[in-house]
Amino acid sequence: MNLENELAPEVSTMRWIGGTDGHLKMIDQTLLPTEFREIDCHDVETVWEAIKKLRVRGAPAIGIAAAYGVVLGLQLGTGSERIDFNQRLTEVSTYLAESRPTAVNLFWALDRLGQLAANSQQLTNSEMHARLLEEAQLIEREDLEMCQKIGEVGAALLSKGDGVLTHCNAGGLATSGGGTALAVFFEAARQGKAIHVYADETRPLLQGARLTTWELMQREIPVTLICDSMAGWVMQEEKIQAVVTGADRIAANGDAANKIGTYSVALLASLHDIPFYIAAPSSTFDLSLESGTQIPIEERLAEEVTHGFGKQTAPEGVEVYNPAFDVTPAKYITGIITERGLIQPVTTAEVLRVLSSDPD
Ligand code: MRU
Repeated sequence: MNLENELAPEVSTMRWIGGTDGHLKMIDQTLLPTEFREIDCHDVETVWEAIKKLRVRGAPAIGIAAAYGVVLGLQLGTGSERIDFNQRLTEVSTYLAESRPTAVNLFWALDRLGQLAANSQQLTNSEMHARLLEEAQLIEREDLEMCQKIGEVGAALLSKGDGVLTHCNAGGLATSGGGTALAVFFEAARQGKAIHVYADETRPLLQGARLTTWELMQREIPVTLICDSMAGWVMQEEKIQAVVTGADRIAANGDAANKIGTYSVALLASLHDIPFYIAAPSSTFDLSLESGTQIPIEERLAEEVTHGFGKQTAPEGVEVYNPAFDVTPAKYITGIITERGLIQPVTTAEVLRVLSSDPD
């Protein structure tokens, strides 16, 4: 995201500094909103740790960080034999792929760099390294463009004065800068639609409370924070006219994995006849999976639930289940907002039709 204020002058979610021997600078999102600090990643291990610990998070941002992680991981390999460079590329990609399992953008970005290298064996190692950096930068730029288009497609679905609910953070911080679900809100606000956003706090790591409200307040978009358990009541009070969330992986039939709690929100929206939209770029679709039952769901540490932000809130030794994502079946999704247009109804045929259409 790009911000201009005293807290964060001219910053972006992440950016590459220098040439092929440069490094990756990123906002440490675990510290927001009370502290704004950027970290410098000079090696692939630091990028891996940043992804694992959610210093950088959100599906598109994880993909971009991984692409730059590959470039960092190959910095020492350019003087080696080509066969060793290729071997190192495979090792670095395999290593990064083990950081988090659900967001497909991570694997999509790694595959894209791997394919590029496989198709460019005539280049020297240094030339190949430079090409990989260019590709990582291209992925970052393309993401920004996709977010802008998602905003335009999605804003058309909202009306003046709408209350809109979102879950987790699908904002600029989760992408190269524009956001997906939040891009829809940013664009609607820019068009003068005077929307009011309700942000679920998003237990256990509070991406909604810490990041989504922060981003919206930076942009002066009216936002009200609610606990996750309040969503149903707020809907019954007719404060919500649409729900828009992001996604981490969408199967060919439109089943969508997103932050844990999204499924409950979708069911509540369905019961209250409120449209439930997912906003996601084409890089979040995994067409190799027929349905959402095949999406791998990350399980995270029990401490995130029992000791949130350093305070113990459950008895020592209690058994905990902590899936980080859930899957919303396509039948509860009114439409999927992509940079190529709106997928509605959400069926395999419509997913394939919209994704294979030419981008404007
Ligand atoms: O665990 P996180 O914070 O990486 O989860 C993020 C989400 O679930 C987002 O909604 C999703 O990645 C879409 S971001 C545009």
